[in-house]
Amino acid sequence: MSKWLPGVTSISYGGDYNPEQWPEETWAEDIELMRQAGVNLVSIGIFSWAMLEPRPGQYDFGWMDRLFALLHGAGIRVSLGTPTASPPAWFFHQHPEARVVTRDGTVLGFGSRGMASPSSPAYREASVSIARALARRYGNHPALALWHVHNEYGAPVSECYSDDSVRAFRRWLQERYGSLDALNRAWGTAFWGQRYGEWEQVSAPAASASVVNPAQRLDFARFTSDALLQCFIAERDAIRAECPGVPITTNFMAGSCPAVDLWKWAGEVDVVANDHYLDAADPCNHVGLALSADLTRSIAGGRPWILMEHSTSAVNWQPRNVAKRPGELARNALTHLGRGADAVMFFQWRASRAGAEKFHSAMLPHAGTRSRVWREVRDLGENLARLDEVVGSEVRAEVAILWDWESFWAQDLEWRPSVDVSHRERINAFYDRLWRDGITVDFAHPESDLTAYKLVVAPASYLLTKRAASNIRRYVEGGGTFVMSYFSAIVDEHDAVHPGGYGAPLRDVLGLTVEELLPLRAGEQVRLSGGVTSDVWSEDIALEGAEVLATFEDGPAAGKPAITRHGSAYYVAARLGVEDLTSVLRPAYDDAGIVPSATPEGVEVMMRRSADNDYLIVVNHTDRPVDLPVTGTDLLTASTSGSKLEAGGVRVCSGSGQAMR
Ligand code: GLA
Repeated sequence: MSKWLPGVTSISYGGDYNPEQWPEETWAEDIELMRQAGVNLVSIGIFSWAMLEPRPGQYDFGWMDRLFALLHGAGIRVSLGTPTASPPAWFFHQHPEARVVTRDGTVLGFGSRGMASPSSPAYREASVSIARALARRYGNHPALALWHVHNEYGAPVSECYSDDSVRAFRRWLQERYGSLDALNRAWGTAFWGQRYGEWEQVSAPAASASVVNPAQRLDFARFTSDALLQCFIAERDAIRAECPGVPITTNFMAGSCPAVDLWKWAGEVDVVANDHYLDAADPCNHVGLALSADLTRSIAGGRPWILMEHSTSAVNWQPRNVAKRPGELARNALTHLGRGADAVMFFQWRASRAGAEKFHSAMLPHAGTRSRVWREVRDLGENLARLDEVVGSEVRAEVAILWDWESFWAQDLEWRPSVDVSHRERINAFYDRLWRDGITVDFAHPESDLTAYKLVVAPASYLLTKRAASNIRRYVEGGGTFVMSYFSAIVDEHDAVHPGGYGAPLRDVLGLTVEELLPLRAGEQVRLSGGVTSDVWSEDIALEGAEVLATFEDGPAAGKPAITRHGSAYYVAARLGVEDLTSVLRPAYDDAGIVPSATPEGVEVMMRRSADNDYLIVVNHTDRPVDLPVTGTDLLTASTSGSKLEAGGVRVCSGSGQAMR
């Protein structure tokens, strides 16, 4: 049982705090209200560069000194931001070359945030300097708990096509390939006469007349993730040199920011931190929330993780910013907690009066303390304070879904067989089915050790290396159950089709080959045996040992296999809806010895375990009371848990073991 923050034994609770937007008289009220809400950790300084360094090299730490003193006096710990997501106006005035250039050549101006090129030497130097200055000033402050470097690397922009970026990309390629010949081979530059004769001719894949070389674009996506990571590492190392011992993190956006390969990033942070915002357009958005939390836990790889940001109610940046319903704030927070989070933080403490985010909800809304949101914030603080013993406990999963950012980057490029095929849509569909079946899911890189899982699902794993295929083969040979969906194992790490054809690296495992891809027309539906329909996709499969579980009854693949099984390896060539995915998952569960949970629909049950205890976290997403066949003590009310869970209610039961199964 490990704690993410040495010495901290309770769930951390709080949010981003931007007091520089308010007169200092307000700060005392903030601190008093934080006390009332049970806040014990706040993130400060995230966008304060212009206030901390008003002129190059001239620091003004006075206001932050006073803020530290106030917070410390109230026993509130500090997660100190480095303000490098938003360099001051003077920086861009001095270094116009450090501005981000987009793929179509637009140079992004000042007045927003996230607009510095990650490959600009001037930006790297200035960001490391301000990080070092903060570490020297506050590294020994007793209130300091955590370093929060930058903000959401990769958002709002990730790729940069400036001259500095092009030079850095070339250096990155030289390191990766060693020679131009190797680069020409890897990128397949014999196609359309793209062969390079000198390194100086190699550039970033800026907009061109038609589709740009996909291997070049894939490498540029890898380079972009690495360039951002180098920015983080440079700041982290400068801080660590001044302030060893205080953990350093940055806030990820697991599942919603495609630009950074978090498998690579996770090992570089001392604690994994995540930001998550609901998709207001999705009435079942709590499933997407669960996915993000499970992905974050998987990235953390068994270490504790923290929720750095979510919202108390509506955000301000979606087309229709739907407010959370009564109780949703607690349901969301406890789902993150149930899936492993040891901190519950929000953006932000007090709603901003001015600026682009004034319509974003906050812990202390514009309406003040006479508001539902405030009351729910205070209640949540009270509830979390009762959950000390949950801190550091673990979540275990028997099922993994494969997740690979490199595959997403490749698959999202242009000129694929169908615009309707989306890796993310398939992941969401399989996850949704598993969520409804009450099965906890980890996410795993295709080349990682899969032996701990009874079942591994590969939804639309377009880019699958030979190494990954060998890994999957070993897993299946070792007795694992494997389910793969269409448009998988199509290309290698250079976005080149595998020799032997689609799916060739797993041909022996799946007992089939895919002869031809047969995408459907927009809106076209096909029937499968067993009364199931599908759309978007079909394939011409030739069996090489697999047995047929379902057949296409019409459409371009009529009479051909749609769902197959070869030992414990399943393949599904059709886009099945969440309901119909049972036709492939039920037999796979049976094979793997996995029992779906019998919880009422819309009720989410999560389990955390420590050496001494089990904790069952139950969330009722429905608007009716449900039976709660759980025994044990409800930590939130300190009473024996009743048999009903009220509409929209939550429970954290201690010592309830497997009661719901
Ligand atoms: C992100 C950022 C925050 C804030 C919120 C608003 O997560 O990190 O600074 O802009 O979005 O939802």
